[in-house]
Amino acid sequence: MHYAAVLGFGTVGSGVAEALQINTGRLTAKGEGITLKYIVDVRDFPDSPFAGLMTKDFAVVEADPEVDFVVETIGGIGIAFEFTKRALTAGKSVVTSNKELVATHGSELMALAKDKGVSYLFEASVGGGVPMLRTVANNLGSENIKEFFGILNGTTNYILTQMFKNGVAFADALKQAQAMGYSEANPTADIEGHDACRKVAILSSLISGKQIKPEWIATRGITGVALEDVVNAEKLGCTIKLLGRAVFGKDGSIRAYVAPHLIPGSILLSHVEDVMNGLFIRGESVGDVMLYGAGAGKLPTASAIVSDLYVLAKDKLDGEQFAWGDPEEGSCSDAGELESAWYVRMCPADGWKREQAGLELIAEAEESLAYRSAEMSQAAMEAAFAGQTVLSAFRIIK
Ligand code: HSE
Repeated sequence: MHYAAVLGFGTVGSGVAEALQINTGRLTAKGEGITLKYIVDVRDFPDSPFAGLMTKDFAVVEADPEVDFVVETIGGIGIAFEFTKRALTAGKSVVTSNKELVATHGSELMALAKDKGVSYLFEASVGGGVPMLRTVANNLGSENIKEFFGILNGTTNYILTQMFKNGVAFADALKQAQAMGYSEANPTADIEGHDACRKVAILSSLISGKQIKPEWIATRGITGVALEDVVNAEKLGCTIKLLGRAVFGKDGSIRAYVAPHLIPGSILLSHVEDVMNGLFIRGESVGDVMLYGAGAGKLPTASAIVSDLYVLAKDKLDGEQFAWGDPEEGSCSDAGELESAWYVRMCPADGWKREQAGLELIAEAEESLAYRSAEMSQAAMEAAFAGQTVLSAFRIIK
C-alpha cells in the first residue's frame, strides 16, 4: 500500500481526493492501492467529507515515513516550490499540475528527484486530462518531432467558443469559465497567453531535452480578438483559436510562440471547442498525430494526477520518467522568422492603395480593410503595412 498527501485543497486538490476514491477499486484490484492520508491547507473545510484528513502543517507530512507520494496542487512558484523541494529531499515522489513551477524550475526539481532516487511527475500540467506529456516523452520519445501546435488553454478556448458560437460577451464567458473551475487563480494568465506559454515551454523542454524558459517564448493572448475578426475569419472558412506552437529545425533551432491564429475548417483543431484541448504533432517518421480531450477542470486534471500516482505505484520508478537538462541561453531563435500567410485588419492611412502586391483584400468595413497575405515572415508582414494602423494581425495555420 502507498500513502499520499495532497498539498492544496482547491479545485484540483479536491478533485484528486475524489478521483482517488472513484479509482480505488481499480487501483486495489491491480494491487496498486493508494490511500490518501493527509490533505494540507491553511484553510478550514469542516463540511468536507475529507475533513478528517486535514492538517495545516506540512511538516507532519514531511516527517511521516509512511507517506511516499506527495501531490502538489497549491500552484505558483512560492510555497509550492519550497514544499516540493522539501518533499523530494525527504525521499517522497512529487506529482503536480503546477505548470508555472514545472516550466520555471523543472530541471532543478527533476535533478533533485533523481538525486534522491524518487520522481517528479507532472502529466497534469499540460492538457488537463489528455495524456500529452507521456505521449511525447515516451511513445514519441524516439521520434524526430518537427513541429507541434495546439489549443493548450481551456479557458480561452471556452471563452472564444462562447463568444463566437453563442454570442456571449467576453466578460460573461470568462465568469462562466471561472465558475466551472477552468481558469487560473488569476485569469490574466489564461487570457494573456501565459498559461499556454508555460505549456509550450514544458512540451518544448521535453522534446528538446533542455529547459526552454517561458520568457524565451513570444506570447500574445486573446484580448485583441474582435468580433469583426471572427466575421472575417468565417468568410475565409476559418475559426480563430489561441495556439501554442514550436518548430524544431534540423539545425537544432527552436522557434516557439503563443498567439491567436486563423485555422481553416479543413484542419481538425478548428473543431476543438469549449474547454477541450487539442495537440497536433508532426513527426518525421510517424507523420501527423493528434491528441484531444478535456484540457482543464477538476476531475480531468485530477485524473492525470492519479495516472502519475498509478505509474509510480505500478512501475516503482526510481528517478526520471520525464526529464530535461538545464536551460542554455540562445536555445530559442526568433519565431517571427517563420513564414505563413497572415490575416491583417487595418485602418488605411491617406494614400494607401486598396490593391497591394502579395495582399488579397478579403473584407471592407467603414473604417477598416482586411487582407490575407502571401506566405511571409512577421517582419515582412509588418513592412507591408508600415505606416498603417494595424488592428489585428494573426497567422493563418496550414
Ligand atoms: N487555466 C488552465 C486552462 C487550467 O484553462 O487550460 C488547465 O491547465
